[in-house]
Amino acid sequence: MDVAQRDRRYLARAEAAEGVQVARSEGSVIFDHHGKRYVDFTAGWCVGNLGWGNEEILAAVRGFDGPAYVHPDYTFRGWSELAEALAEITPGTLTKCYRATGGSEAVEIAMQVAMAATGRQGFISLAGCYHGNTIGARSLAGDRGTYPNLLPHCRQVQPPLDGRAADRVERLLKGEKVAAFIMEPVVCNLGVLIPTAEFMARVREACRRHGTLFVMDEVATGFGRTGRLFASEHFGLDPDVLCMAKAITAGYAPMGATLVTKAVADAAGVDFYSTYGWHPLSVAAALANLKYWRRHGAALLANVAARGDTFRARLGGMKFAEQASVRVKGLAIGVEFGEDSDYASRLGERCREAGLLVSAEKENLLTMFPALTIEPEVVREGLDILERCL
Ligand SMILES: Cc1ncc(COP(=O)(O)O)c(C=O)c1O
Repeated sequence: MDVAQRDRRYLARAEAAEGVQVARSEGSVIFDHHGKRYVDFTAGWCVGNLGWGNEEILAAVRGFDGPAYVHPDYTFRGWSELAEALAEITPGTLTKCYRATGGSEAVEIAMQVAMAATGRQGFISLAGCYHGNTIGARSLAGDRGTYPNLLPHCRQVQPPLDGRAADRVERLLKGEKVAAFIMEPVVCNLGVLIPTAEFMARVREACRRHGTLFVMDEVATGFGRTGRLFASEHFGLDPDVLCMAKAITAGYAPMGATLVTKAVADAAGVDFYSTYGWHPLSVAAALANLKYWRRHGAALLANVAARGDTFRARLGGMKFAEQASVRVKGLAIGVEFGEDSDYASRLGERCREAGLLVSAEKENLLTMFPALTIEPEVVREGLDILERCL
């Protein structure tokens, strides 16, 4: 039985896995088991922000000689160091950190903390959002088709994220007891929707007025994706709660974190325990990632800005077979086609065959999240492939 056959037989998936059998990855390039080369415009979906094979993080993981495991109730130097470092780099006054194993758990913690801190049950999020795969996170998405018994009291606001959407959020906040409003500050999961500054400012302020926690899910946007270390910075936001995961270790180990203000932590008064939350090996990877950012952050963000400009210019000039809306924020890139179109998934498949990896979120929505280190010639190569596949 080959790998694909074994995968189909033993892995629980709704659909057979996409074609690429990854053998090796290097920078912004992936090689499959036949040695076929792919330009990688996905970086594992906002995970490998430093490109594949970062020597410094690899060295930290391979040379790790700390404890095999630490009981969550004990103390560990790596935990306090990492929590302090995250408090320093995040926007606003987030100083208390819950340890998680990934993004879904980080969001679940945010929801539990919000309920405990406010004594309320309700949530507001964006229609069509994705915040993970727990029942809590799926409740935010509000899709009751497959899971009819989601949490009640979850309301969704329809984009576009402008003044009228802010009106709707304000009405909901007034009418109901809402524990938290949650969204991605740049919505990667909706094809890089960029809220207006008015929407963000008004919703943040309304949350403050109504005693509702303002939660920024930076699981995808965190660690430079949109051109700032955290996308909340684009709007000068000071969230009550911020979730992160994915690129926190640049892909070398699983980890998530939920940062809250001291006031929120005190009001919630809850603990969150997870056996593998902040495993020492993951902590070593995250600390190495932060060290890399401290030394190379300015250069990384400069590269994001320059390469983002290339994507914007080239995609803006491409002759897509259907009407396209191109949205670029740093190296978060979305191309949306008409609602009934399946052009994005067809295009995604064609690109893969031609040696370029992009994501088709939905049939009509293409996203690209290349490594922040991607070189100009690799951007050009990938965009040339995309253009040939149109
Ligand atoms: C914005 C956002 N939140 C949460 C999650 C869930 O993260 P994880 O897959 O690590 O559980 C994701 C995953 O794609 C995400 O994009």
